[in-house]
Order: sequence, then C-alpha cells, then structure tokens
Amino acid sequence: MLMVTALSRPEAVTSVSAQEIDPPGGIEARIDDLIGRMTLEEKLGQLSMLDADYPSGELTDEQKQMVRDGVLGSTLNGRGAVATNEAQRIAVEESRLGIPLIFGFDVIHGYRTVFPMPLAEAATWSVRDARRSAAIAAKEARAAGVTWTFAPMVDITHDARWGRIVEGAGEDPFMGSAFSRARVKGFQGDDYSRPDRVAATAKHWVAYGGAEAGRDYNTVDTSERNLRELYFPPFKAAHDAGVDSFMTAFNEISGIPATANPFTLTEVLRDEWGEDGPVLSDYTAVAELRACPIPNVETDPGRGACGHAVAADGAEAARLALNAGTDIEMVSQLYRTHIPELLDQGLVTMERVDEAVRRVLRLKFRAGLFDDPYVDESKEGGVLLAPDHLAQARRIAARSMVLLENKNQVLPLSADLKRVAVVGPLANNQIDMIGTWTGDGKPEDVVPVLRGVEAALGDEANVSYAQGCDTECVSEDGFRAALQAARSAQATIVVVGEPAAWSGEASSRAEIDLPGRQIQLLKAIKKTGKPFVVVLMNGRPLDLNWLHNRAPAVVEAWYPGTQAGHAVADVLFGKVNPGGKLPVSFPRAVGQIPLYYNQKPTGRPPNPENKYTSQYLDVPVTPLYEFGYGLSYTDFEISNVRLSAPSISPGGSLTVSADVANIGSRSGDEVVQLYIHDKVASVTRPIAELRGFKRLNLDAGEEKTVTFSIDETDLAFWGQENTWVVEPGEFDVWVGDTSAVTEYPAEDDELHETFTLNN
Ligand code: NOJ
Repeated sequence: MLMVTALSRPEAVTSVSAQEIDPPGGIEARIDDLIGRMTLEEKLGQLSMLDADYPSGELTDEQKQMVRDGVLGSTLNGRGAVATNEAQRIAVEESRLGIPLIFGFDVIHGYRTVFPMPLAEAATWSVRDARRSAAIAAKEARAAGVTWTFAPMVDITHDARWGRIVEGAGEDPFMGSAFSRARVKGFQGDDYSRPDRVAATAKHWVAYGGAEAGRDYNTVDTSERNLRELYFPPFKAAHDAGVDSFMTAFNEISGIPATANPFTLTEVLRDEWGEDGPVLSDYTAVAELRACPIPNVETDPGRGACGHAVAADGAEAARLALNAGTDIEMVSQLYRTHIPELLDQGLVTMERVDEAVRRVLRLKFRAGLFDDPYVDESKEGGVLLAPDHLAQARRIAARSMVLLENKNQVLPLSADLKRVAVVGPLANNQIDMIGTWTGDGKPEDVVPVLRGVEAALGDEANVSYAQGCDTECVSEDGFRAALQAARSAQATIVVVGEPAAWSGEASSRAEIDLPGRQIQLLKAIKKTGKPFVVVLMNGRPLDLNWLHNRAPAVVEAWYPGTQAGHAVADVLFGKVNPGGKLPVSFPRAVGQIPLYYNQKPTGRPPNPENKYTSQYLDVPVTPLYEFGYGLSYTDFEISNVRLSAPSISPGGSLTVSADVANIGSRSGDEVVQLYIHDKVASVTRPIAELRGFKRLNLDAGEEKTVTFSIDETDLAFWGQENTWVVEPGEFDVWVGDTSAVTEYPAEDDELHETFTLNN
C-alpha cells in the first residue's frame, strides 16, 4: 500500500478578500458608499450587459437612454474612441450616480492588428510571444475605448471537430496554463487602469471543450478528476495571474449548466480560489436555462433563448444563475425583469445582489474608470496598426508556422527563383487570413500570400497567380489555369485550407478533410511533375494523409493574421527557419477523435501484435502528426538527459538537464519538451504529461544546455479522496523534441531517466 500525502497545492489556498485588505477610503469603501446609495434598478443595471451595434460600435438610442437612467452597466461590441466617449459622457455626466460604463469586446488575437489565432500562437511554444501580442492587442483596444476583453479563451479540448479549438492553446493543460498566464499578463499587465491595458476574462468556465462529438454547445459529462486535472488548470493559472473576470460556458457539466452551477461558480471559484472579480454569463446563457418553448415571450424577455430546461421560466432562470454565482447577465435581461419579484418572494437575497454589484464595481475601479473614464480620441489613429505592431504580427506569425513535411529539403525555396506560381483558394485571399474573432481587423489591412511572395522575390521575378477554385472548391473550372501556371513555373506554392468561418463558434465539422475538391487540385498539380510546396491555412487539425504521403513540403500556417503574406514568404524563402510545433495531435482518421497524447494506458494498452488490446482494426492508434511535432530547415540533437538527484523529498525539487545541439548548417529554433510519467499510482495516470518546454535559438554548430525544475506540484494528481495528492514512488522523465519521445525504444534511453519521490 502506497503512502499518500495530502498536498496543499498553492492554488488550493483561499486568498484574503479584497474587503479585508482595503485601506480606509480605498476601493471597497467607495463601493460601500455607492451601493448604499443605489436603487434596486441601478444595482440590476450594473448586472446587465447589452450588445451595442456591431458594425458601428455605437450604442443604440434606447441603450443610451438606459445609461442615462442608470440601468445599464456594460456593453459588448461598443468600441471606437468617439463612440465610447460619447456613451461614457452620458453615464458619467447624465446618470444619477455617474457610474462609468465598462466596454467589453472580444479582443481574442488582436484588435486592429490581427495576430495568428490563439491555437497558432500556441504553436510558437513561446509564452513571451503570446504575452507580447496580448499587450499590443490591449494597447490598440484601449486606445479605441475598449476596457475589457473577453479573452483569454482557455478551454482545453481533445476534439478537432470542435470549431472553437482554434481559440485556445490546444490539448494540454500544462501548456494551456502557461499560455493562459501569459495572455492575462499581456492584456492586464500589473495594473489594467493604465491607458494601454485592458481587463481580461478567463472563459468559458468551464469544460466547454468537452462538448460531446465536437458539436458546439453540446453536453459535457465529466468527472471531478477530469475537471480538476484537465479543464480547471488554465483557469486557475489565469486567476493566479490576476485575471479579474470569468465568463460562464454555454454547456452543462454533468447535468448542471455551467451558468447555474454552484460547484464551479461558487465552491471552486469563490470559496477555494478566492476570486473576487465578476462572473458574466455568455451570450443569452441565462435565458438558455429555460425550457422550450417559452410560455410567454412577451413578458419573459430573453431574446427567445431557451434550451437546458432546468428552469421553467425566466424568473427561475434568473434565480438559478444569480444564486449559483453568475453576476452579470449578457444580453438576455432576465435579471432586470425578474430579480425584484424574486427578492419579494425571498428567493434571492439583497446580499447576493450587492455582492454581484460589488464585483462589477470593483472591476470598474480597478480598470481606472472612476478616475479617468475617457480615452484620448486623438491617439486612436496612431496606435492602431502602428509599425511595431505590424512587425510583431509578422514575426509571431512566422514563428507560429509548423513545418510538417520537407522531403528532400525542398524548402526553403531559393529567393533567386525567377518564375514562381502562387495558386490555390487561399493564395490571394485577405478575408480568411485573419481567421475568426477578428476584433476590429479589416481584410483590406491584410497582406495576402501572393503579395508577400512578390515582395520577397522582387521585381526581377515573374510571379503568376491562379486561384484554382474558391475555398469551398466545388468546381474544377479554374484548375486548368492553375495547372498552366504550375507548368510554366520553376516552383509552385499551393495555398489550401479551410475558410475562416469554418472555425470558431458554431463551426463544428463532422469531417475534417480539406474542403471540396482541394485534394483534386493538389493531385492535379502533383501530376504536372513540377516542384510544388503546400501552405495550409486552417483552424483545426485536418486529415492530412494525402499530403503526408504525397506532398514534397507542407507548412502549417494556420490563420496568420494581418501580416499573413509576409510571414508565409519569410518561412518559404528561409528568412525565418520554422520552429513551431503542434499544440494538438493531428489524427489519421476522424474516428480516432478524441485524440491526445496524454492518454491513460487502459488495462489493455495498444499492441499491434495482440488483437485483444485497445486499438483499431483499420488505422493505427497513433496520430498522423503528434503533439509537439514540427520540423526545421536544420537538424538538432538532444542528448545526455540527466538529473540533479536520483530522488526528491516532499517539499523539495530536482532539476532535469539536457544538451541540445544544432548539427545542421543554418541557425534555427528548437522546442525542448519535458514529459513525466508516474509509474504506479492509486489512480490511473496518463502515459506521459508535459511538465516543461523551452524554445531556444541555436546557430549552426552551437550547443546549449536546457534545465527544467520538477517539484511536488508537478507530480500531484486528484486522488481517490477528492483532494490533491502526491504518492511516493518512481517516475519516468523524458526530454525530447516531440511527445513521441515517450515512446522511443530503449536504445534512445539517453533521453529518458527515472527518479524516486521519497516518503
Ligand atoms: C459568445 C461566445 O461564446 C463568447 O466567447 C463571446 O465572448 C460572446 N459571444 C460575446 O461575443
């Protein structure tokens, strides 16, 4: 019997509440004063968020009147320095108490300068890049009057079918936590009252990425262990990094919708973690607690939303959501309509209403809105698309690209080529390059691949272009022109992939192939016998079997953002040596999903030589491209994995080091990854778990040593008694350039070590 140590994880410590540490005359005292003077309508106004006009960013006349009456506390989609100042002036100067508005917006991967999608940014394996792009996004957003972003989206998912996989950092909770922290810090800095920062939101709380069958909004049924080990960690990381708001998820969690879930919203978030910022519902998620059809849409507003059927009507939905811990209702207005009667009936308390209002006001105070509610209208133009923002967008996009194939070193292409063809549905495309959730990004700002290639090759070269087909590629009518272009070129760059709208919210797919006849286009180009390389743009892992077997070179470019074309050209012509690695597993077949590297072993681990083991008859169990995979134009060698000590004692730590050498002929980046495995435990453990990663640059011939630290918290798991535990015993540790290092045979055990956790 193993000894089990109950582990008090740092994150399990309840923090001191803001009220307890507030100095006299501080924020909490000012909130007390305001709450003491607010009417019930004004309080409920602070708990209401409405959707401003999207294209213009202005509030409607009706919304402006609500602001004047003190019954609207926040908006989404309201933006632009002039529009937000105008609405703010009404709040501050014309409402009774002068409480400023807060303007929320989905600033997910850039505001006007659009960076690669978050999944792509995770492929940089550089938290510094994520922090930097979030900081630039914050600076632009704040200059445009936005004070609050609904980001980072930190949902972990194992499902490539789910469209929202593109918005997060992929499949791994350790990596997801690192990117979550970085993004929160990037958006907020240490003080989001500053004129170049915004308040951040960790969303969607929680388990949204577990949607059954990858169908958006679908049921999630999961264990507490899975919540604690897989879905919670990036949210906890956001909390620890100082995030001040959370957004509920649309889904149910094992029978209780996330928007009315006392366990996640109050027990974990408030009581265990000590979070003191507001939780807002997702769009109409409070109304979606109702049963369909809604008995009386006239008297029970909520945009007609309904669905989970845990509430008979709007009043019950408002009661369940508020009492569970949802403070702000996005869009549906059931709080304003029903909370007065619920108070009269004693079904909600004024203490709970005041608590929710306090959290909202706290966010507004911390955002500096009571001291300086306006933005400087003269600055907005100079901040948006500033040259250094564009330079970072180009740099980070190139760093996010993953070289999936490079047979016979076809890439990089020579920059001296004189006849190049650029073909494919995404080759001269500006709309799809910025992906989904584009903030205020505009297609006309985007550098398409064609332009990037032309700029890289200069006037001497002849760059021809043919679309071949549009993104959905239903017709082959344009193939002939594409083949003609390929035949007369020294090399052809084929840019294929998904339209941006096939990723993101409500964009799940049951098949994950290249759309329409894109494969036929690629096959026809291959048939010409002329050299070609493939650039992929997509928001999820796709079925790339044909490309894997037949394409000479494949660059996974995701949706690269405003500077797409330049970044792609930088990689294709070798100005940037690709160093990105996959943050998600790419399956061989859609039937392998959910697919992820850190699986459990099962009682019958896969063994191709024994039928009665956990595997498929028709495809191997392994992914086509695994988590952590990515090639380079140079070669690296990792060796000599060593430990600072053979064992670790409770409370102690040890270091793991490895040597990394660039044994090729050009400078490049390697992402060194550390994985561990608990050999025997009282609860089944994954076959490998990421516990460290570092992206480093090495010149040709250079060697560096990378060192990681491991302590108890890296070894902890959610035990049988429903607490964090660590158990003494032996652990495997690997250092490599891919998650597949954990499956390397014994002769590669230079990359493997073991250590013991002592009693
Ligand atoms: C719904 C999405 O789920 C959420 O992520 C987003 O922040 C809100 N709409 C507001 O746009």
